[in-house]
Amino acid sequence: MAFLFACNKCLLFLVVLLLHASAAIAAAALDNSTDLASLLAFKAASTSGGGAASDNIIAANWTTDVPFGTWVGVRCSLQYPPRVVLDSFSLQGTISPHLSNLSFLSSLDLRNNSLSGTIPDTLGRLPRLATLRLSLNPLSGPIPPSIFNNMSSLVSIILSFNNLSGSLPTLVFLSHIEIISVGHNLLTGLIPADLARCSTLQEIYLGENKLTGSVPSSLGNLSELVNLSLGNNQLTGAVPTSIGNLTKLWYLYLAFNHLKGEIPKEMENLVNLQELHLDVNGIVGSIPISLCNASKMTVLDVSTNNLTGPVPATLGKSMPFLQWLRMAGNALSGGLDFIASLANCRDLNYLK
Ligand SMILES: *[C@@H]1O[C@H](CO)[C@@H](O)[C@H](O)[C@H]1NC(C)=O
Ligand SMILES: *[C@@H]1O[C@H](CO)[C@@H](O)[C@H](O)[C@H]1NC(C)=O
Ligand SMILES: *[C@@H]1O[C@H](CO)[C@@H](O)[C@H](O)[C@H]1NC(C)=O
Ligand SMILES: *[C@@H]1O[C@H](CO)[C@@H](O)[C@H](O)[C@H]1NC(C)=O
Ligand SMILES: *[C@@H]1O[C@H](CO)[C@@H](O)[C@H](O)[C@H]1NC(C)=O
Ligand SMILES: *[C@@H]1O[C@H](CO)[C@@H](O)[C@H](O)[C@H]1NC(C)=O
Ligand SMILES: *[C@@H]1O[C@H](CO)[C@@H](O)[C@H](O)[C@H]1NC(C)=O
Ligand SMILES: *[C@@H]1O[C@H](CO)[C@@H](O)[C@H](O)[C@H]1NC(C)=O
Ligand SMILES: *[C@@H]1O[C@H](CO)[C@@H](O)[C@H](O)[C@H]1NC(C)=O
Ligand SMILES: *[C@@H]1O[C@H](CO)[C@@H](O)[C@H](O)[C@H]1NC(C)=O
Ligand SMILES: *[C@@H]1O[C@H](CO)[C@@H](O)[C@H](O)[C@H]1NC(C)=O
Repeated sequence: MAFLFACNKCLLFLVVLLLHASAAIAAAALDNSTDLASLLAFKAASTSGGGAASDNIIAANWTTDVPFGTWVGVRCSLQYPPRVVLDSFSLQGTISPHLSNLSFLSSLDLRNNSLSGTIPDTLGRLPRLATLRLSLNPLSGPIPPSIFNNMSSLVSIILSFNNLSGSLPTLVFLSHIEIISVGHNLLTGLIPADLARCSTLQEIYLGENKLTGSVPSSLGNLSELVNLSLGNNQLTGAVPTSIGNLTKLWYLYLAFNHLKGEIPKEMENLVNLQELHLDVNGIVGSIPISLCNASKMTVLDVSTNNLTGPVPATLGKSMPFLQWLRMAGNALSGGLDFIASLANCRDLNYLK
């Protein structure tokens, strides 16, 4: 009897414990004052540019009368980590450093606003942030090193179309990163060889900057790479032969640089390549026959280089999906046999 009683008590105790536990979880969820303060600080800074009231939608919408979970652009629940998604909102102020107190933030998307000032380096403290998208703003100053070396949660960093300057920070530990997009900025300095440490990278866009130095051969280690864009910079040296190790590559844009040397014959391994842009460089030698292994090629542009020798006669035969072929502005010689093979390319609509 006593035993049974004790056991009941035990059960009751357990239930109370469970109730306490869920109450604690609920209380933690309700204690959102830090999140609220961070969001209000963000609101104050990002609407401080004096945009028209109709532009600054969040100025009117983000009021403390209603839970911030209902605010436009703020998504959060117990199940889903908070996101702040305010693309194309005409925000004209700055990005508040207090945003870093939203410690559960998983996505910050402020693309296509008029946010100016610098990217706060406190963003590097957000331990859950997977997506950081600040493209299409007039942000200036450097890319904070904390973002590149302290955020193992990051999957994509998209900072393109800003006015960011300085050099690319060294990458130390971004174990989940898939996309780095910092094109169309004012970045200078070298492409860090350490970029190759992030073996999960699939897409790299560094085009339209003022980067110098050579294309690091270490990039050949990035076996998951699909898109690589380094065009419109001031890169020198040769296309590294290690590029031939990137067998998943389908988009390679190296145009408008000062690259020299030959097209590496190792590129014969790039059988998935669909777009190759090498135009406006100082590349010498001939168009290697091995390039014809890229049977999925749709765009091939080697124009305005110093290429010599004949065009491979089987070019068109081996690239049936070719839509764009530009080779003008070289010193190519030899017969026009390749022209006949282009009859095989039914989608060809540009040839020069
Ligand atoms: C964010 O955290 C920092 C440091 O912990 C603190 O100084 C600041 O006041 C906080 N900001 C807000 C808006 O809570
Ligand atoms: C804020 O915007 C959301 C989403 O558009 C809307 O549902 C809500 O009613 C708005 N709240 C206020 C106070 O304007
Ligand atoms: C935040 O806490 C307040 C009360 O403490 C509550 O009314 C509100 O629903 C909570 N959640 C959000 C998302 O604002
Ligand atoms: C940027 O936002 C403007 C409105 O502010 C919109 O008209 C435009 O289509 C957006 N551009 C992109 C690329 O999203
Ligand atoms: C690095 O991140 C941790 C937590 O994710 C944070 O405590 C620390 O302040 C960050 N360091 C820098 C330099 O941002
Ligand atoms: C970058 O700054 C220049 C002036 O320094 C300005 O003309 C240009 O519009 C800015 N670009 C962006 C995207 O803000
Ligand atoms: C990357 O490739 C280079 C050769 O270009 C090699 O020396 C280096 O050890 C490789 N790094 C990693 C992390 O695999
Ligand atoms: C490319 O692959 C070859 C052969 O597998 C290997 O010897 C070389 O080290 C690789 N280079 C890089 C940079 O990964
Ligand atoms: C990059 O690769 C993805 C596929 O992974 C593709 O959808 C996208 O259009 C590519 N971007 C460019 C600029 O080619
Ligand atoms: C590329 O084509 C050449 C013949 O031009 C062939 O010997 C080689 O095995 C091919 N390589 C691949 C990876 O398909
Ligand atoms: C490429 O050819 C141009 C003339 O067509 C010449 O001025 C230039 O020096 C050449 N460059 C190289 C790297 O051969």
